[in-house]
Amino acid sequence: MKRKLQLLTKSSLGVMSAVGVALSGTLSAQVNIIPLPNHVEEVANDKFEITKETAIRYDTKLRNEAELLAAAIEKATGHKPALYDERLRIMLHSQIYLDLDDKPAEGVSPESYTLISSKHGIGITGAGAAGAFYGSQSLLQLIPLEGEFSIPGVKIKDTPRFGWRGMHLDVGRHMFAPKDIKKFIDQLAVHKLNTMHWHLTEDQGWRIEIKKYPKLTEIGGFRASTPPYGNRTGSDGKRYGGFYTQEQIKDIVAYAQKRHITIVPEIDMPGHMAAAITAYPELGNTDIPNYNPKVYGLWGVHPYILAPKEETFKWIDDVLTELCELFPSTYIHIGGDEAPKGQWKQSPFAQSVMKREGLKNEHDLQSYFIGRLEKMLDAKGRKLIGWDEIREGGLSPKATMMLWRGWDHAIASVNEGHDVVMAPGSHTYFDHYQNDKAIELAKGVEYECIGGHRTLSSVYSFDPMPKQFKGTEKAKHILGCQAQLWSEYLKTWDKVEYQAFPRVAALAECAWTQTENKNYDQFFVRLQPMLARYKKAGINYFDPNTEGKVEAKEGAKVSSSLQPHGGHLPVCIYDEAKGTYFWSNSPPKENDHITLELAQAVKAGKVHVSTGGLVKGKIADRLKDGILQVSTDGKDWKKIADFEDGEAMGNLSDGTKFIRVLVTGAQTSWLIVQDFDIK
Ligand code: ACM
Repeated sequence: MKRKLQLLTKSSLGVMSAVGVALSGTLSAQVNIIPLPNHVEEVANDKFEITKETAIRYDTKLRNEAELLAAAIEKATGHKPALYDERLRIMLHSQIYLDLDDKPAEGVSPESYTLISSKHGIGITGAGAAGAFYGSQSLLQLIPLEGEFSIPGVKIKDTPRFGWRGMHLDVGRHMFAPKDIKKFIDQLAVHKLNTMHWHLTEDQGWRIEIKKYPKLTEIGGFRASTPPYGNRTGSDGKRYGGFYTQEQIKDIVAYAQKRHITIVPEIDMPGHMAAAITAYPELGNTDIPNYNPKVYGLWGVHPYILAPKEETFKWIDDVLTELCELFPSTYIHIGGDEAPKGQWKQSPFAQSVMKREGLKNEHDLQSYFIGRLEKMLDAKGRKLIGWDEIREGGLSPKATMMLWRGWDHAIASVNEGHDVVMAPGSHTYFDHYQNDKAIELAKGVEYECIGGHRTLSSVYSFDPMPKQFKGTEKAKHILGCQAQLWSEYLKTWDKVEYQAFPRVAALAECAWTQTENKNYDQFFVRLQPMLARYKKAGINYFDPNTEGKVEAKEGAKVSSSLQPHGGHLPVCIYDEAKGTYFWSNSPPKENDHITLELAQAVKAGKVHVSTGGLVKGKIADRLKDGILQVSTDGKDWKKIADFEDGEAMGNLSDGTKFIRVLVTGAQTSWLIVQDFDIK
């Protein structure tokens, strides 16, 4: 790793003395912390052993952090350290000291910490409780996954690059169990992320109990159907829904708070409101033709938008009152994205409000709307944040913008004096494919994503700070960054994890680590033990070591002279996924083939190959003229069956290593080949 390691002064590190400082340019294999701390020194020939004797001494104000650390050490080592309040002044032979800096220097972030490990013990000093917690997270990543629990000698002095380090989670399209959300929060903490943006309402479902308006969840919490994977305009005909009770929300908020994570709730307004408008139709533009709101069972942007009526504003105020009681965060996200203006154009009432307020168009009406929300939040002592559309028609004075579209919105807003959180679709939408779409879809239809291609390395390359603000006064307006998990194509918690991890690790480094300390190749090395930690934590992560690779089962290889249609790769004729198949993207000609090379020659048996599949309800794309052949060496081929009605079954003799479908006559339709079934 090419980066300057800064020599730390003794005084900045507290009481421990340096035992020879290794200033090699490369961190050893043992220091694999993600996000990479901003100053690390390794101390040669020194280490601390975590044993049954190891105990935690803690500053009285850090009881919570000490308890969390003890529980995590127990998980990692099987031994739970005893806890001692520092006021007890007990002599400890093997100690981890969790300390709080009583007088942090001015301007030092309370998320800063130092961590020193040596044979004498481990000292973590937080500039605030959050810093002590982050020091603990770094320590936990220094505990080897197996073998002796020895911590290398290190001196770390660390502080985050940005104060807003977030992950968003949409529970409107699909919702997830509280236990899974807690598991997610645990991982955000591991990655030193401090914000969970909880997208709680959508056209497809309202997910937060509001006591004053029970129909929001009784009616708005449920939709009649959902598009299945692989059929975006289809319907599974199954009622879907649910919501989080206020008790569940309080529990999750408290859980997050203990882990220094602020949950920023989002009520998406004035668009994305079909579920609420279905529950309380009077909230919408009732004076338009064919007014008939419903909770949507399809994805996309839908027309239902709140009406700018006083009774609607009263409803919003009531909802925000209950929201603020549940969520202590300074910021409240009011959405503001993708609000189609068609219904306001059609509504005589909305037009009359525009006239009354002297607004020249519907964008100005949106600004007026957002301005009203800002006043409500102001009165409740909170700050408004919204998606970048809240700039349309002018951004209300104190509003903070969350950028998801073009960076020009961020630059213009900062130039106007607004704060911005960077969440651009160009780098941080984790509902995009992280591998080639074709490769993902070859694994099965449930790997479908909304689109896009966002590799781990491209996430890592994200720099939230627009170039023109680097090193300027305006940089402070870029609060930080976050990544998005929109859940249209995240039907299960497993899929959420698959899309999130390990891209969360790359995001964390973008948010925490200074640009000059970042290096993708080195990150990728540090990521390997993190993947093992994910595995241990039961996380269904995407393995970036497999990026760009598709594997046939049992070490076999598949080749074809035909090009695949979409994700229907040749390998699908012999992969682990059920229901996948090869599909050519053009009609086959004579001598086209699809060939399976097994890793081991077979003993005598049978092979059955079926071609064609259901396309729009009818069997299509069968092989018309073709034969099934086998070979021991891939050179000399022997016919074992003809295809009849798209099917062939043949006997395999001892020693067969190659099996292929050979096309013997051109056809006009494309070709689907199902699994090679060997018995
Ligand atoms: C968004 O993706 N509609 C913020």
